[in-house]
Parts: sequence; C-alpha cells; structure tokens
Amino acid sequence: MSVIFQTLRNKGKTYLFKKIINSTQSTCKCFQFRKSSDTPKKFISFEEVVAQRRAEAKRSIVVQVNSEASFSELYGYCSEYAAINGIHHYKNSAGENFMLIEFKSEEDLKEVLKSCTTHQKDMDVMALNSPFLWFRAAKGPKTKYLQPSIKLASVNGIDKIDEDKLFKELVDCETVSDQIQLLYDRTTLNDLGARLRYMVARQIESVLKSLYANIAVRPFGSSVNGFGKMGCDLDLVLTNIVNEDTCLQAGARLVYQAAGGAGAARHVGAAADALELRAAGAARVTRIPHARVPIVKFAHTYTDLDCDLCYNNMSGVYMSELLWQLGSLDVRVRPLTVLVRAWARAARLTQPHPGRWITNFPLTLMVLFFLQQKTSDGFVLPTLKNLVKRAGTEDIRVAEDNLNCTFLRDMNKLPADCYGQSTASLQTLLLQFFEFYSQFNFQDKAISINEGAPVRKPNSLPLYIINPLEQALNVSRNVSFEECERLITEVRNAAWQLDAGLDRQKGEDWGILALLEQRSTRGLKKLLRVGNSHRLVSVKDLFNDSDTRVPQDTLKSKLERLAPKTDKEVEQTVVQMKEQLGKEKEKKVQRLKFKNTSIASEVFRIRRDKIV
Ligand code: GTP
Ligand code: MG
Repeated sequence: MSVIFQTLRNKGKTYLFKKIINSTQSTCKCFQFRKSSDTPKKFISFEEVVAQRRAEAKRSIVVQVNSEASFSELYGYCSEYAAINGIHHYKNSAGENFMLIEFKSEEDLKEVLKSCTTHQKDMDVMALNSPFLWFRAAKGPKTKYLQPSIKLASVNGIDKIDEDKLFKELVDCETVSDQIQLLYDRTTLNDLGARLRYMVARQIESVLKSLYANIAVRPFGSSVNGFGKMGCDLDLVLTNIVNEDTCLQAGARLVYQAAGGAGAARHVGAAADALELRAAGAARVTRIPHARVPIVKFAHTYTDLDCDLCYNNMSGVYMSELLWQLGSLDVRVRPLTVLVRAWARAARLTQPHPGRWITNFPLTLMVLFFLQQKTSDGFVLPTLKNLVKRAGTEDIRVAEDNLNCTFLRDMNKLPADCYGQSTASLQTLLLQFFEFYSQFNFQDKAISINEGAPVRKPNSLPLYIINPLEQALNVSRNVSFEECERLITEVRNAAWQLDAGLDRQKGEDWGILALLEQRSTRGLKKLLRVGNSHRLVSVKDLFNDSDTRVPQDTLKSKLERLAPKTDKEVEQTVVQMKEQLGKEKEKKVQRLKFKNTSIASEVFRIRRDKIV
C-alpha cells in the first residue's frame, strides 16, 4: 500500500493530505481530493497528478511471471538490487500473469535494469530496452530470498468486473443515488489501470526519444480526465516540449537542428515504424495517416490496452485537463457522468466504433453543461468563461495552431460560491438531466460549456455542441439527424422510466437498472436493415477532411421534418433555407481569419487539420 503525503499551503496554514491508494477495489479516488466533510476545500491540480503518475512510471517495471505465486520470489530477487515501494498483480486477456513493481526511486530502477539479460535461445531476435520484462526460472538449487515485508497491493488488479455481483449489489442499494455512486466506484479506472497507462506512455516515449529530441508522450482522454472506466482505450499524444525549461532556458545557446517539412502524417508514420520494430508488446500497428488528426493505432498486448497515438495535439491534453478539473470540483460530477455514459452505451446511442452517432466526449460535455444550469437551489459547476476570466499569467497555455487554452488551473483560487451551489442528490440530478434534455431546443440551440447557457446554432447540423477550446467548432458534427432524434427519444424514455420507477417496488429493474438494460432488439442485424443505413459509415468518410461529407441535414430531410402542408409553405421553406445557406457562406468567408473566439454567439465553422 502506498501512501502519498502532500503538504499544501493555504492561507498561511499547512495542511497535511494523506491519500491511500492501491487496493483491488481502490479506484482513482486519489483524484478526488474534495469530500463534503473536507474543510477547508482543497484541490490538487491536473499537472501535479500527471507529474506524480509520470514519476511513478519512471521508477516502475512490469514483469511477466508464472502466476500470482511468483510474488515472494520476485520480491526477494528484486529487493537484492533495490528498495521496493509496492507490487501489483494482474492478468491480461490471454491469461498471462504480470507484476507491476514500483521501486523507491528512479536510481533504484536503474540498478535493477543493469542486471537484465537476454534469453540465450533468442539469438536471432534483438532484445528491446523497455520497462516490460519477464522473470526467468532459476537454474540450479533454489536461492533462499528474504520473505516479503509487504503484501501484493492488488491481485488480478485489472480483471473485468463480475457483472452478476454488481447487478446484485445494485438491486440491494437503498437509493438511486447509492446505485449511481456504486456503479462509479466499481467501474471507474482504478489505480493499477492508471499506472499501466502511464507505463505504456513511458515505453513509447523512450522508443520515440531515439528519433526526436525534447519530446514527451502524454496520455489524454478518458485515461486521465477522470471519466474513464476500466478497460477504456489509451489516447496518447507525441508532443514537442517547447517551453521555458527547454528552448527558452536562460543561457541555453546550443539548439538542435531540425528536419523541417515533414507533416503530422509523416511523423506518425515514422512513429508506427518505430513501434513495430522497437516497442515490446505493441501489436496490430495500423497507420491512419489521412485523418484530420493522423493517428497510429495499436494494441498493447501486455497491458491489454487499445492505443491511439497522435502527434502534436496538445489541445487534447488541455481538454482532458479542463474535464478533469470540472470533475474534481464536486463529488457528484464524475458518478453522474459515468452513469450517463453507461446509459448511452446500453441504449446503443454510443458504439465502440466511430460513426454518425454521439461519442463519450460530447456526451460528457452535455452532462457538464447541464450541471452549469441553475436549478431551484443553484448550479453545480462554473462556466468556462468564469475560469477564463480568473486565469492568471501562470495559466497561459497555447496549443498548436496558436490555440489559446488559457483558463484557471488552480481550483483553490475559485471562490466557493462559483460551484457546488445545488445540494441535489445524484438521483435528483439524474432525473433533472433527462428532463432538461427532454425539453432542450436542439433545433435552434447549441450547447456551450463556455457560456453555461444555450446559444444560437450557427448552422443547421442536427446536434451542435461547441468545442470549449475552439468555439468555432462543433464536436458533434458527425451526428446525423436520425441519431439526434434517437438521442432525444431515449432521453425522454429515460426521464419517464426513471420517474415511473421511483414509485415502483424494488425489483430487478429498479432505479438505474432499467436504464442500464441492454436493448437486445437493437442488434447488429437490425442495424444493417434498410432504413438504418444512415448509422453506418465507411472508414473513408470518417477520416475525410471535407465538411461536405458531414452528415448534413439535407434540404429533403428538413422538408420532411418540417412537414409543411401546402405547396406554398414548401416554397417558403426552400426560400428561407437558401437565404440561410447564403448567409452562412458569407459568414464563413468573412470570419475565416479567426482561430478561436471567446464570444460564443459568434460561432462559425472553418476548415482545419485537426480533430473537431
Ligand atoms: P472514451 O475513449 O470513449 O472512453 O472517451 P474519451 O474521452 O477518451 O474520448 P475519445 O477517445 O473519443 O477522445 C479522446 C479525447 O480527444 C477526448 O477526451 C477529447 O479531449 C478529445 N476529443 C475527442 N473528440 C473530439 C472532438 O470532436 N474535438 C476535439 N477538439 N477533441 C476531441
Ligand atoms: Mg479515449
């Protein structure tokens, strides 16, 4: 069990924060630094958490072993070289056993690595320098090692959750709020899951360091934004470290020559080659160079992770930071979001592969937006505008393409009346969430967490969720009209189901259980039937840069939707739409010079070469 002590200063006083992590059941609660009983409120920053996780990974290795029973011998062997902080056991889906060992320091780890060897029978393959190793059976008589002074921090630490057990626990909960909290506690990415993700990032970073100078490989997305569940994919970004520590360092006059001209696609291609040759455990390496954001996909077999690596997409990291911060402000945010994501999955609103449907990221923005609304007793979250207004010089961040990602980073500086005003329970919030979106004017309004209020839609795309860090862009632009309609229908169903279920006797479908029930009638076969073709999307379409490939609300579909009764009305509608289209085109031309704007009512679309 590892204990992290943090000494933090606040208003002249020193507070000691102790966080216990690592246990089979332990979730990433180390990221939840505020409890309702905590006084004064104290938040750790995203950068501090990332720094701690990176440091942890730098002093850790992952060793393939025979079984959980190898613990004593491995502990004894390794502790002859260095002091050990903790050992976690897990199995991958192939049933192979691994132990993640965290040493006391990076220097300790170096000592251990010095003793590593290659297998004599593997003369025709090159051993790879990486933190992924295996533990060879001892030759000759067994050495007597010291008995471990610690216990395994986790056994089968990333095993899939036992759904039957979880189901029973959910049935037995006292309240719907308890159910939501339990689902979160049981399914959220745990400490070992987070450690392994940073191990893979560290491994890929060291492979790519042989190609580039001053780079870092950072996890982003649900692996680090606080909304990830066990088994979520690992999004990685290869970035230049162009900051005061490296380039602008006072006195640093020798500067690396650079190879110019290679675009993101070439870098990603080079990274893919390096992964294939040099990253132990990386399999099924797939290049997707012509995407808006070129990526290389691969499976990491030792950790069972599906990984996407992209290049210079710091805005993705800042977006994760923003989501992480908002999630850390109030203890209800993450459980509610995790439940909404689980409900959307069960209702097949989200799918494991991309298409014309909503994905977890925009869905998360919908939850955050809802939590910014003033209910009878107030709101839960502040607007992004508020965080931007309070930012200091230490918060200035500029991502690629001069994208301004500046907002307040230290949540301790946020006045207490800027968040957590509503005292509603999770149950009430969930019902309010569904009711809010049952009545939301999706046809005319866009969702903006910058404003915390609906803003006028700049075009007729069915679902408009403004990208918080680049307000010209719609993060749900891929969503088709039919999928948006389905989202609205499912939201209404859920509101009704939840409300009706509250009065019913507790049974096997009480509370959130009814919401999480898989819709068996919506199988793949049904999806493939005529009439559902709008839900299918070719890979080519997904990675096409052109806005015209976006599932447009066509003139025909709009006419069908509006269903005018007379020819005159049809004509009028066509004229109105043509005018609207003309205006939009005009706006596009006039405003192309902007990159991002803080005025949400001025949202517009521009072509660009990155994620939208
Ligand atoms: P899951 O992988 O589904 O668990 O959630 P996720 O949050 O990791 O989403 P995803 O893997 O699709 O994307 C990873 C991250 O990329 C997100 O958290 C966002 O920060 C960012 N991202 C995803 N989609 C978009 C988009 O449409 N526009 C922008 N700007 N960023 C996006
Ligand atoms: Mg992801």
